[in-house]
Amino acid sequence: MIKLHDKYFKPFISAQQIDDALQRMVDEIAEDVGDDIPVFVGILNGSFMLTSDFVKKYPKTCEVTFIKLASYEGLKSSEDIQRLVGLTQDLTGRTVIILEDIIDSGKTLAEVYRIFKNEKVKSLKIATLFYKPEAYKKDFKLHYVGIEIPDKFIVGYGLDYDGLGRNLTEVYQIKQTQHMTNLVLFGPPGAGKGTQAEFLKGKYNLVHISTGDVFRFNIKNETALGMLAKSYIDKGELVPDQVTIDMLNAEVEKNTDAKGFIFDGFPRTNAQAKALDKLMDSKDSQINAMIALEVEDEILVERLIGRGKTSGRADDANESIIRNRIKEYYSKTAILKDYYSAQNKYHGVDGVGSIEEITERLSKVIDKL
Ligand code: IMP
Ligand code: MG
Repeated sequence: MIKLHDKYFKPFISAQQIDDALQRMVDEIAEDVGDDIPVFVGILNGSFMLTSDFVKKYPKTCEVTFIKLASYEGLKSSEDIQRLVGLTQDLTGRTVIILEDIIDSGKTLAEVYRIFKNEKVKSLKIATLFYKPEAYKKDFKLHYVGIEIPDKFIVGYGLDYDGLGRNLTEVYQIKQTQHMTNLVLFGPPGAGKGTQAEFLKGKYNLVHISTGDVFRFNIKNETALGMLAKSYIDKGELVPDQVTIDMLNAEVEKNTDAKGFIFDGFPRTNAQAKALDKLMDSKDSQINAMIALEVEDEILVERLIGRGKTSGRADDANESIIRNRIKEYYSKTAILKDYYSAQNKYHGVDGVGSIEEITERLSKVIDKL
């Protein structure tokens, strides 16, 4: 991963892949051009590196020239394209091939056509190393395309983000989500998970996603996913993981500015943990840690009986029910402890002490992530 200005970028296209694509374009073009001596026109600044590598590979005599246009500002294609250096030579009767680093909206290309409109060239063809089909809004034919890419901002191999990144020999893609801290929070009943989640939310600016709350919200508001989940629940069946994942995805998408998430109540199984990893990966992010509050059984029982006395929650009052819930917790989370331990992401935190003391211990773990 690299950082340019305020943004993070991840490796996307290797130098080898670029070289291969370039070679394919050279071969195809050399074949089509035949015995003509073509004039390759690089569009500056972006295509300087590509043009250089391209003509070094070109097996026959050719000419090279440049025009300089500017359209991008920061991360967005801008409306007006400036012609900074136009054509400086007569191209009448010549076979002209435009070398573009990337074709995005096609605005730059429209400008190129405008420049060549009155030139009496023999033929004008467009070659671009990268092409974003989803972003392209024009009808001009693209004669040679190296690599089609999704509509996401890239840097490297001539392409820049506000001036930086042009010198990179590989291409990097912008990370959709920037630096995030994502936690999976666990704790047996009575461990104080809710209290600590509340604190972590505030201190680290995280969004707390409690699966139970998400379910209740979706069902109450009769969202498509809520109705789907309900249809399984009504039949007495388990809600398929994918439905839960889709709900969590919706929560993550609602909070694109979040510094991270606390997942609470999910995952419960290996398959779910994998599905969650996949979800985070699709957001260019990851689960950084599983944090489990550890409290001895006897203390939990004592706490819950105490809570039951004041809250009147029936399941908190009965000691054998309490012990069962604790047992169930350990049997269920053992698999996940293994799953996250294998990735060095498991952190057990002593959950006995004052709220502040426990908070302090949690912070120590998170600050190190
Ligand atoms: P278009 O005019 O929208 O087709 O954009 C073409 C020009 O915008 C290219 O020549 C680049 O200078 C710039 N551009 C488009 N997409 C990207 C990108 O992902 N990274 C960096 N520059 C880009
Ligand atoms: Mg360009």
